[in-house]
Amino acid sequence: MDISHIEHLGIAVKSIADSLPYYENVLGLKCYNIEEVADQKVKTAFFKVGQTKIELLEPTSEDSTIAKFIEKRGEGVHHVAFAVKDVAASLAEAESKGVQLIDKAPRGGAEGLNIAFLHPKSTKGVLTELCCN
Ligand code: CO
Repeated sequence: MDISHIEHLGIAVKSIADSLPYYENVLGLKCYNIEEVADQKVKTAFFKVGQTKIELLEPTSEDSTIAKFIEKRGEGVHHVAFAVKDVAASLAEAESKGVQLIDKAPRGGAEGLNIAFLHPKSTKGVLTELCCN
């Protein structure tokens, strides 16, 4: 699949505003971008940690998958995103190896990335995102 690094960790939070003091004042990270992804019904906030990012995900609607995640499991790590060279090819490879896909084809995510998710049923419980610029 040719993974180069962990592109980001997605972390579900009830409120980005309430989470910023921890990330900025305690961890000393700097939020460099806040962006709404309308089709996913989330607001995102980004921090760089080396070449990996932290992506905070705040639901913007009750029926957002992030709202449902928080309701069920509370705030916390939501997904791991691996950087790959080619999302479509990686999806095809995963599917050929028996992995259940959430996205059959890459779609647009925050920060202009091409993204696609693998189903946690097939990934030992970790919602897994594949992405590339
Ligand atoms: Co993500």
